[in-house]
Amino acid sequence: VRLNGHAPAVLWYTGLSGSGKSTIANAVDRKLFERGCHTYLLDGDNVRHGLNKDLGFDDASRMENIRRITEVAKLFTDAGLIVGTAFISPFIADREQARAIAGAHFIEVFVDTPLEICEQRDPKGLYKKARAGDIPHFTGISSPYEAPKNAEIHLKTAEMSVEAAAEQVVAYLIQNHKLGSE
Ligand code: ADX
Repeated sequence: VRLNGHAPAVLWYTGLSGSGKSTIANAVDRKLFERGCHTYLLDGDNVRHGLNKDLGFDDASRMENIRRITEVAKLFTDAGLIVGTAFISPFIADREQARAIAGAHFIEVFVDTPLEICEQRDPKGLYKKARAGDIPHFTGISSPYEAPKNAEIHLKTAEMSVEAAAEQVVAYLIQNHKLGSE
């Protein structure tokens, strides 16, 4: 029985700061809501300011950030939801651990926006500060981003709108029988 009319899933968005993870995840969430899906979105706004406010951006802190998010995402899938997680999650090992814990529900979504574009957008002015040396361990500048090699969904955002990116995610869910047909 599918209580919610859909399978549980973790949509694990990964990409650089300013790549559009939250924006795309929100657009997907809206589309899923319109289809009657039960969803929840974990992002910096509701996790790094609360549950994980004790964590910084050194490697060990990011690892712990992702570990806690993984466990919370698991709880949401236990409850039957489609949960989105929108964090840089720069390390392959941490994402693979998330995949191992979430099991068949795990769907990696690579928000593939080139560094040049993220830096050009610089919505929070952080790249400028990082280049000036004012933010240590900044992803893409002074801390690595390990791109996924085999993400289930690869969004080449330089070539598509937010709407098209969200459509691609929903289409994947339909094709993989996570959503009921209308
Ligand atoms: S993660 O690496 O641990 O997954 P997370 O997604 O939670 O990162 O937070 C990233 C956001 O924190 C960035 O979009 C940016 O706004 C802010 N931030 C602050 N310091 C850093 C830093 N050193 N590196 C990357 N992002 C940072």
